[in-house]
Amino acid sequence: MKFDVLTIFPNLLASPLEEGIIRRALTSGVLEIFCHNIRDYALGKHAMTDDRPFGGGEGMVMKPEPIVAALRQVAAQRPGGHVVFLTPQGQPYTQKMAWDLAQKEHVVLLCGRYEGVDARVEEYIDAEISIGDYVLTGGELAALVVIDSVTRLLPGVLGCSDSAEFDTFSRGLLKYPQYTRPRQFEGQEVPETLLSGDHQAIDQWRFVESVRRTKERRRDLLQQAQFSSVERKVLATHGLELTESVVPVLDERN
Ligand code: 6GU
Repeated sequence: MKFDVLTIFPNLLASPLEEGIIRRALTSGVLEIFCHNIRDYALGKHAMTDDRPFGGGEGMVMKPEPIVAALRQVAAQRPGGHVVFLTPQGQPYTQKMAWDLAQKEHVVLLCGRYEGVDARVEEYIDAEISIGDYVLTGGELAALVVIDSVTRLLPGVLGCSDSAEFDTFSRGLLKYPQYTRPRQFEGQEVPETLLSGDHQAIDQWRFVESVRRTKERRRDLLQQAQFSSVERKVLATHGLELTESVVPVLDERN
């Protein structure tokens, strides 16, 4: 998978890409990242990348010419990339969107500064993504979030022991609580079931705790989750009644 990243602050991207799983994916060649400084495509003595907004008002707006020139240069080198603009006005980013991006061969990430980008750039863009309802100074951290979340889904990047299949959100539930040694920590014990060696019991305990956590912390997610009738019975025996009106029954004919 290839990413081209267009930014006026390429240094912001460097060090997060030099560690851990992303570094390994880059080294193995599963992942390639090319950063481009939009300023290199700006014209004139001062190589201006922004200017005052027509109509007046606060702040500066990124000029369209350097951005479109950079996009053209990328397209000339590697045609056919899916162009994503990182902006707080974009579609809220989800795990489903990460899976969809991970299917693509080549994604171009355009980082805007928060005050805005000339609207005529929209013509050159396939999708707009926001990473949440808060404002960042620019799209660079959002681009890193996208690169990170997509990279771990690429085939061969994670070992099977931490496979993305079992992630939080893989079926719309939060992850169950995890424990490691020591068995006792400052008076707190590891739940008995996890020490039992009974894998069926462990799987069931984890499922129930996932649902319990999701119910407590993210009712919005639980309302979209689906459960089989067997799972419903298990949940009911643990006092986790999910009423029909809140959670639809999974149609088991499919
Ligand atoms: Cl993609 N950009 C900026 N500037 N702020 C954001 C964002 C993106 N997503 C959430 N806030």
